[in-house]
Amino acid sequence: MPGAGIEPARDFTSQVFETCVFASFTTQAYVYYLTARLNLLRLARMLPFFSTFISGLGKVTDRWLKEDLADVEVDFLLDGLVVFRTKTPSHQVGKIRFFNNSFILISRDKLIGVDGDKAVQVLLADKDLGEKLSSLGAVKGGSFKLVVSFENRTVSVDHDSSAKLERFISNRTGLKWLGVEGEREFWVMVRSDGSIFFGLRITSLKKKVTEGELKLGLANVLCRLSDPLKSDIFLDPYCGSGAIFLERISSFPYKFACAIDSDVSKINLLTKKVSWTREKVKIRAGNALNLSEIEDESVDKIVTDPPWGHHEKLGDVGTFYKRMIDEFGRVLGPGGVMVVLVAREIGFEGIALTTSKFTLAEKYEILVSGKKASIFKFLRA
Ligand SMILES: C[S@@+](CC[C@H](N)C(=O)[O-])C[C@H]1O[C@@H](n2cnc3c(N)ncnc32)[C@H](O)[C@@H]1O
Repeated sequence: MPGAGIEPARDFTSQVFETCVFASFTTQAYVYYLTARLNLLRLARMLPFFSTFISGLGKVTDRWLKEDLADVEVDFLLDGLVVFRTKTPSHQVGKIRFFNNSFILISRDKLIGVDGDKAVQVLLADKDLGEKLSSLGAVKGGSFKLVVSFENRTVSVDHDSSAKLERFISNRTGLKWLGVEGEREFWVMVRSDGSIFFGLRITSLKKKVTEGELKLGLANVLCRLSDPLKSDIFLDPYCGSGAIFLERISSFPYKFACAIDSDVSKINLLTKKVSWTREKVKIRAGNALNLSEIEDESVDKIVTDPPWGHHEKLGDVGTFYKRMIDEFGRVLGPGGVMVVLVAREIGFEGIALTTSKFTLAEKYEILVSGKKASIFKFLRA
């Protein structure tokens, strides 16, 4: 039959074609399957955490968290609290300095109208709590305490319920309950929206702050906002006890750092604190409104927390801040950065923009010890 000889060849070609298409689909499906499985495995190995941070700083917190932990998956971000997963060991997560507190997330729930007492009851009613606690294998040995917080304040709760929860934690983790003396801290954190977060605190940085001193987390945020570089000449001309200055020289690179304050006793104390280094730093008494020792355009970064006028007499606040801005504009070089923490009522933005030397780059509204404050980042033109 004419052409009969080519029929099988056509069949063969189409068979090969179909096989290839099938194989391609199968391979693709297999690759999708493997990727999904790997993702699941990766997620499974990722520990869940939650961390608290200064309310109003969600945008930068999200950005920095993703910069610092390459594998991080942010589950959700609330005002002042972020829930995320990472493979980074918990002791390293506990060292993140822009967080106030970090915890391994054990469980979370939400119940409108819940208070500290009810939150403890919710946990006790959780059938899976034992399993979740047992999975915290790494905490075996040592002692613990239970902390319950409601809307950012620690609260006391019904003794019987808390004792029941403490016994439960002790049985499941092998840790010994030691009340306030406990080394590890299990926190039941209740927020105003009814969210309940239960976690093991892993924050390794503990530092008592003195009156008027900025908390470490805030000092870190202010320094980081200034985009620190190792070539930086840094200045804090209202250094006080030195929270910002110390954070800059201990956590970020710099070429030279200078701290100034008009209060000689604060300068003497700070000088003692940095006795471990005499290189690349200068600490001296002086007036931030007249930095005559500092040459024009010789500074790269100013990060500072000037007096708010609540405790000190500043005279006319507008005039005080205008003189300050003019002096900062003189010593900062072109492209320099100024990060300032001020009381919100001062209207600092308007004062700073009366000079054409500065443009506003970023602004955050926060609370500092319950007082309304703003963080401004200005760029020197
Ligand atoms: C808000 S406090 C800074 C607190 C600091 N951030 C800390 O963590 O301790 C303001 C500081 O400015 C200082 N001060 C007030 N007027 C000054 C001036 N004209 N020049 C330099 N320092 C001044 C005060 O002595 C005070 O220590």
